[in-house]
Amino acid sequence: MRIDVLTTFPEMFASTPPAALGVSIPGRAAASGRVEVVATDVRDYSDNKHNKTDDRPFGGGPGMVMMCQPLWDAVTAVEAMDTRVARRVYLTPQGTPLTQRLVEELSREPRLLLIAGHYEGVDERVIQALSPLEISIGDYVLSGGELAAMVLIDAVVRLLPGVLGDHESNQQDSFSAQVAGHRLLDCPHYTRPREWQGRAVPDVLLGGDHGLIAKWRLAQRLERTTYRRPDLLTDQVEAGLPSSEPKLG
Ligand code: 6GU
Repeated sequence: MRIDVLTTFPEMFASTPPAALGVSIPGRAAASGRVEVVATDVRDYSDNKHNKTDDRPFGGGPGMVMMCQPLWDAVTAVEAMDTRVARRVYLTPQGTPLTQRLVEELSREPRLLLIAGHYEGVDERVIQALSPLEISIGDYVLSGGELAAMVLIDAVVRLLPGVLGDHESNQQDSFSAQVAGHRLLDCPHYTRPREWQGRAVPDVLLGGDHGLIAKWRLAQRLERTTYRRPDLLTDQVEAGLPSSEPKLG
């Protein structure tokens, strides 16, 4: 997969891959050539003499707005650098919330083009002209879309074929495995020692009965989801995906 990032702060992607994506699972994905992250400075495509990319908002108010021309020209030029068709994504707090389901969909694309906005946003007309998928990573405000782009990249590249080892299977992760069409939080995990500061590992995990362990883990996942994220259980069941009743015994 090729992932282009269009930004006015290319320093955030200065190394290849950027530091945050150079370690752990995303680092392996890059080192094995399964993903290539290419950052482009929108400023390089500005046609005015000071390489300006932003201007004051019509109608007044605080902050600056990213201008149409530099972004449009940057998208056009970057898209022409590779024959694969890019899925355009604009990172914005006004976007559709990023979910594991959306991450899975994006992981099937051959190429992503991520647009990181700054200032008060991007001129609405260039958003309309580009018609990107608009994505938010949560209900809080970041200074710019770059960190959101990195979050999206991390979540996507770990799903690329061959990136996760068997022992890291994503099938059991929070939000991936489903029960009756609902994505559940993960169960608690334990390792040695069997007792630490007076706290014991649950007996069921030490008994070697793998049927019982699976049942316990599912019950833990359902309980956690019920208390911590009841919204995940009342949200609409995911369409078109296999669903089954929880088997508790
Ligand atoms: Cl995608 N961008 C910005 N600037 N802030 C955000 C966000 C994106 N998602 C949540 N907050």
